[in-house]
Amino acid sequence: MNRREFARLAALAGSAAVFPGALDIDINAAPLRPAPPAPDENFWRDVRAKFLVPRDVAFFNAANLCPTSLPVLDALDRAARAYEANPSPEARSTLMANGREAARKMLAEALRVTLEEIVITRNTTESNNTVSSGLDLKAGDEVVVWADNHPSNLNAWRQKATRFGFTVVSVPVPPSHPGADGYVDLFTKAFTPRTRLVAVTHVSSNSGDLLPVAEICAAARSRGILSLVDGAQAFGVIDLNLATMQPDFYTGSMHKWPCGPKEKGLLYVRQAVQDRLHPSVVGVYGGAVGISRTFETHGQRDDVGIAAVTEGLKLQGTVGRAAVEARSRQLAQALIEKLGRLDGVKLWTSRDPARSAAIVIFQPGSLDPRKLNGALAQNDKIVATARTGDHNPGLRLAPHFYNTMEDVDRVVSAIGKYLKTGV
Ligand SMILES: Cc1ncc(COP(=O)(O)O)c(C=O)c1O
Repeated sequence: MNRREFARLAALAGSAAVFPGALDIDINAAPLRPAPPAPDENFWRDVRAKFLVPRDVAFFNAANLCPTSLPVLDALDRAARAYEANPSPEARSTLMANGREAARKMLAEALRVTLEEIVITRNTTESNNTVSSGLDLKAGDEVVVWADNHPSNLNAWRQKATRFGFTVVSVPVPPSHPGADGYVDLFTKAFTPRTRLVAVTHVSSNSGDLLPVAEICAAARSRGILSLVDGAQAFGVIDLNLATMQPDFYTGSMHKWPCGPKEKGLLYVRQAVQDRLHPSVVGVYGGAVGISRTFETHGQRDDVGIAAVTEGLKLQGTVGRAAVEARSRQLAQALIEKLGRLDGVKLWTSRDPARSAAIVIFQPGSLDPRKLNGALAQNDKIVATARTGDHNPGLRLAPHFYNTMEDVDRVVSAIGKYLKTGV
C-alpha cells in the first residue's frame, strides 16, 4: 500500500483527523505510585501520561485494542537493542529465557495461580484453539458453546467438531442480561451426560454482559464437565482470581486491557487437567516449568516482546489491579448514567454493575452508527467502535484506567450534540 492509499484509508476510518501525524509525546518519567484509597483525577492524569495517544484524543477502543504503555515500549526498545547487540547462543538461552520466565511469574501472580499452569501464547485466538485442538473428543461427545463467543471460541469448535466427530451444542444469546441465575440456567439446561466441555466468555464484546463464570465453571465441575473461559475482555481490567473461579482453561491477550506488547497471549491450564491436553505444535525451546515445557516449544519466538509482558503487568500491579478495575467500572458507570439521560439513547449494556464491567454499548437514536463514529473521530477526536448489523447496533465505548472523567463528559456531550443536529 502506498502513502496516498494509506492516507485515503486512514481518512475514511476517521483516524487521519485523530492522529494527524505530529506526535504529542509527553513522557512522564516519574514512576507511577500505587493508587491511594480514593484516587482523584490528578492521579489518573498521571496514568494517562504513560500512553502515547495524543492528550487531546479521547480513546474508548479498549475492547478492540489498547495502546501499549510507555514502560512496555521502553522495555521493548531496551531489550531489542541488547539482543541485537548480542544475538549469541548465551543471550538466547539465558537473557531471553530469563525475561520469559519473569513474565510467567508475573502472569501467575496476576491470576493467583501457579507458574506451572501458565502458557505464553500469541493471543486469545491461539489459546482458545490450543484447547479445541488439544482434547481427545470423539463422536458421541458434546461441547456446549455460547452463541455469543468470539469466532475463535465458536467457529473453531464447529470446525473441529466436523473434523473429530463430536457435537457442538449452542446456548442462545438472551435479548438482555438475564441475571446471574438466568445465565447459569441457560448453560446448565444445555448440559447432558454426554457433555465434555463448556466454552464460555467472561465479558461479551457484543453486549458488555459480565457472565457468572465462576458459577458456570462450578456447575460444569460438579457434572465432570471441563470449562474454558475466554477472558479477552476481562484480563487486564477485572482483578482476576482464577484460584477461586476454578476454570480448567482461561485465555487472554496482552495487547488488550493489560496494555502490553502486541501478539502476546495467555493460556491457563489447571494442573489437574494438564494430562488431558495435547500440544499441536511440537518443537524445541519450551518454557522452564510445568505445562510450558511442552506447550511453548515453538522454536524461535519474539523473546523481546515476551520479556516486555512484565512491564505491562508491573504498571497495572503498581497502580493496583483492584484500583484499575474500580476506575474502569467507575468510568463505565458514568457513561451509562450520562448516556442514559440523553433522549433517544437505548442502552444495550445492563445498568447493573453486577452484570457488566467496562464495555458500554448503546443505540444512538436513529443515527447511523458508522456515520456517527466517523463524525466523532473527524470533528471531536473521539475513538469509539461502530457496531453495524442486527445484534445490538450502535456504538461501543470501552473506557480504561487511562481515561479521564473529562473524556466521559466530552463523548456524552458530542453524542448529545449529534442527536440534536444529526450527522
Ligand atoms: C471475547 C474475545 N475473544 C477473543 C478475541 C480475540 O482476541 P485476539 O485477537 O487477541 O486473539 C476477542 C477480540 O476482540 C474477543 O473479544
